[in-house]
Amino acid sequence: MSEVSVTKDAAPAADDLVVLDNVNKHFGALHVLQDIDLTISRGEVVVVIGPSGSGKSTLCRTINRLETVDSGSISIDGKPLPQEGKALAKLRADVGMVFQAFNLFAHKTVLENVMLGQTKVRRTDKQEAEKKARALLDRVGVGNQADKYPAQLSGGQQQRVAIARALAMDPKVMLFDEPTSALDPEMINEVLEVMKQLADEGMTMVVVTHEMGFARSAANRVVFMADGRIVEEATPDQFFNNPRSDRAKDFLAKILHH
Ligand SMILES: Nc1ncnc2c1ncn2[C@@H]1O[C@H](COP(=O)(O)OP(=O)(O)OP(=O)(O)O)[C@@H](O)[C@H]1O
Ligand SMILES: [Mg+2]
Repeated sequence: MSEVSVTKDAAPAADDLVVLDNVNKHFGALHVLQDIDLTISRGEVVVVIGPSGSGKSTLCRTINRLETVDSGSISIDGKPLPQEGKALAKLRADVGMVFQAFNLFAHKTVLENVMLGQTKVRRTDKQEAEKKARALLDRVGVGNQADKYPAQLSGGQQQRVAIARALAMDPKVMLFDEPTSALDPEMINEVLEVMKQLADEGMTMVVVTHEMGFARSAANRVVFMADGRIVEEATPDQFFNNPRSDRAKDFLAKILHH
C-alpha cells in the first residue's frame, strides 16, 4: 500500500488525479458541501463514509458533474471539469460511476449495455467493442449472461455488469456510490470481490460504502464526512482503531454495533 499524505501541496503533483479545491455547494439553504479540499492520487483507493445526509453522494456527483458546484474548483488529470458538450461526455466516460441502483438499460442485452458507450462515446468499432465487452464480462464473472436482459439477472450480477460497462470506457477513475447497499446479503461479496480486484490492479477509486471490511482491506485512505464537511481523513488502521473526532467515534460505535 502506498503512503498517503493528508497534507496539501501548493502545486499539484504529477500523480494527483482528482483535485477538489475549496468546493462549496448549496441546495437552497442547505450548505451540502462545505470547503471541501480533497486530492486523490493516481492508483489511490479512497473510501468515503459518514452519516446519512452528510453529502457523500453529492460529493461523488460533483466529480463527474452530475451536480455543479457554487464555488471552488474540481480538476481531473490536471484539467478543470468541462461545462458542457462533447468535452463533458468525454469527462463522463473518463469518470466511471456505479450507483446503488443498477441503472442498466432494461431493453438492451447485457452485452449491448457494455458495448453502447464504447461505440457511441469512444467511437470504437462494433467488433472491437464486442470483443472488449465479452472480455470484461468474463472478468467480472458474468460472461455467460451476455445475451440476457438485465431483469433476468440477480442484483449482484447486474451490479457487476454495471462495473463492466463503466470499465469499458477505460475510465481514469471509478466512483462507487453504495454499490452493494441494494443487494441481498449473499450477493454483496461477489461485487466487493470485483471491486477489491480492481483496487489491487491499481484502479483509482472513490468508494462510498458502509462495508467496513472492504474499507479495511482495500482503502488507502478513509475520508469521514459529517454535515457537508470532511471531518477526518486517515489510513483505515488509524481511522478504525483510533478515530480522532467525536463525530467519527459516535459513527463507528453505531455502525459497528449493527
Ligand atoms: N437534488 C437535491 N435537492 C435538494 N437537496 C438535496 C438534493 N440532493 C441531496 N440533497 C440533500 O443534501 C444532503 C446530502 O445528501 P447526500 O445524498 O449527498 O447525502 P449522503 O451522505 O449521500 O446520504 P446517504 O448516506 O443517505 O446516501 C441531504 O440533506 C439531502 O437531503
Ligand atoms: Mg448517498
